[in-house]
Amino acid sequence: MPFTAAEVEKLVEDAESKIGSCSSLQGLTELRSQLMGKKSELSGFLRELGSLPKEQRELSGQLLNAAKKTLEDAVSVRRDALQELSRSQSLQRHRTDVTLPGVKFPSGSLHPVTLVERDMVNFFQSLGYSIEDGPEVDTDYNNFGALNFPDDHPARDTQDTFFVSGDQVLRTHTSNVQVRAMRGKTPPFRFVAPGRVYRHDLDPTHYPMFHQIEAFCVGSDVTFADLKGTLYAFARHLFGADVKLRFRAHFFPFTEPSAEMDFWWQDRWLEWGGCGMIHPTVLRNCEIDPQKYQGFAFGMGIDRTAMLKFGIPNIHRLFEGDIRILGQLK
Ligand code: PHE
Repeated sequence: MPFTAAEVEKLVEDAESKIGSCSSLQGLTELRSQLMGKKSELSGFLRELGSLPKEQRELSGQLLNAAKKTLEDAVSVRRDALQELSRSQSLQRHRTDVTLPGVKFPSGSLHPVTLVERDMVNFFQSLGYSIEDGPEVDTDYNNFGALNFPDDHPARDTQDTFFVSGDQVLRTHTSNVQVRAMRGKTPPFRFVAPGRVYRHDLDPTHYPMFHQIEAFCVGSDVTFADLKGTLYAFARHLFGADVKLRFRAHFFPFTEPSAEMDFWWQDRWLEWGGCGMIHPTVLRNCEIDPQKYQGFAFGMGIDRTAMLKFGIPNIHRLFEGDIRILGQLK
């Protein structure tokens, strides 16, 4: 017999101890081919099987196969152990301390005009007004004509109005929404319309683009007292319960009677906006019978309110997009 059972046993024992002390996966792969590859002692024994007499062949074959299986198992147990070890080492290396403070990203904020506009719109919604929107480029008719501006009214002059082309203008006020929203509707209704408006005007308190909010209410028994009550409620909402308002007789082509209103701020009167009872001609232009229905309307700047609330002295600061300033106004 070319090999003895004791030799096989010794081979297995040596191999097992080598496998058990192997410390890397790469080393284990090399060791496996050393121990079980073509040039290994074990393969040598297996090749010799063929030359054995028949009666020995079966027994020796079983012995060698069992040895081979033992080694394979030992390799696979060691491989699992080494893999587990490397996984836990890598977990240890990449450990995340979940108690560390997170990375803070800078967060944006709404523009002061947006904040004030939303607050104003919310107030009117709580009184049952619906929001109405209108285009910033509109026809001369919706911005002026239907609102009873005579053709030669100075407000149409290039000093105030940006003419776009043909009969299109950049709206000079949100009152164009009155015409668009009322046309063909049957009262009663109440609308609020915030938005951008444009006038050819530039100094520290004026900007060629600014924001207005328009509110109008039409029904069969709407009076000037309703207008004043609504304005007072609005002013109290914005400036506090002790707010003082002042109405000055004024002229707008689209309201009669008309007034400008001011409110008392710190130690002086500030102009707030215009108001009045919607002119019968405007109602008629919108196919509403002024014998049956009356309404009030008012409009005021949003930017001025935002400037007061946030303490911004110059309207230009609002629209320059300077993040250092806007960042302070959350
Ligand atoms: N549209 C007027 C303005 O821009 C304000 C106003 C609105 C006046 C509604 C009366 C009624 O000055």
